Amino acid sequence: METVVSGIRSTGHLHLGNYFGALANFAKMQSQHQCFFFIADYHALTTHPDPIELHKNARSALVEYLACGIDPEKSTIYLQSDLPQIPELYLLLNMFAYTGELEKCTSFKDKIRQHPDNVNAGLLTYPVLMAADIIIHKATKVPVGKDQEQHLEMARNFANRFNHYYGAVFPEPHAYNFGSELVKVPGLDGKGKMGKSEGEANAIYLIDTDETITKKVKKALTDLAPTEPNTPPTQPIANLFSLLQLVATPATHQQFVAAYADCSIRFGDLKMQLAQDIIQFVTPIRARITELNSNDAYIKKVVTQGGEKARQSAEKTIKEVRNLVGLKGF
Ligand code: TRP
Repeated sequence: METVVSGIRSTGHLHLGNYFGALANFAKMQSQHQCFFFIADYHALTTHPDPIELHKNARSALVEYLACGIDPEKSTIYLQSDLPQIPELYLLLNMFAYTGELEKCTSFKDKIRQHPDNVNAGLLTYPVLMAADIIIHKATKVPVGKDQEQHLEMARNFANRFNHYYGAVFPEPHAYNFGSELVKVPGLDGKGKMGKSEGEANAIYLIDTDETITKKVKKALTDLAPTEPNTPPTQPIANLFSLLQLVATPATHQQFVAAYADCSIRFGDLKMQLAQDIIQFVTPIRARITELNSNDAYIKKVVTQGGEKARQSAEKTIKEVRNLVGLKGF
């Protein structure tokens, strides 16, 4: 059994990409490992969100996590800002994070390009806070996508430097590999993966209504119909097939693949089927979101108990760390 930590920046609603790329696996993972799932509300501050917005987003992330099957009885689910041990460890780790390496980080360079008027130190030290999130529980596994691999490598470096100076306290955190279960979830724009930065219409959110889903799928990019039998589908069509495969029965998926191969396919039918199967798929999740949203007492209980459990784990580590550093009082 491994200790697993995963954080989500609470900046918006979850879409099918989040679900199939991560959450579907988390729901399984929690039965096999000790899992800590948290809402990274401190990380969300780097872009100066409105306080009401910040709070609302943290709550919706929590609700949507629970609706996707994260079970507070099996996992520890909490708000990052409920653990004072995280910013404390972050401060200590900052002494082992060199400004040069932080400035070279790909995500930092992207942010500078996107927001040249807000290059704050919180943005620069984002990977240090992320390292603290992970090693505060002495986690060994972190389920991350490609875009977070560099951050994870930095977390290993900070932990190893700390260990080298003060003595072995942190295990090395590595990427949790879902292996063959890792699926690519394309968006509706005929290009790459589903994501909110690619535009609202590219992603299907778990909270989208039936009408919104149908409208988005109808607008999805297609291509010219095939004219030669057995030509491989072009990118926009292959994307729709990938989505269909995720939500439809194998027989339905196969039927449309075959229709493409013998040139009898009608893209209107494909889209109707896809919309219908997506709706069928998200309906129960959406119902759980609605139900949880109306249950303030339950949400409060989940974060309170999750926070307590997470603080116990974090406190054990920070005590050990303070002792090693020589911050032990008199
Ligand atoms: N940086 C992650 C993201 O943008 C979110 C995150 C913050 C995280 N702290 C973490 C992920 C710790 C895993 C572990 O998606």
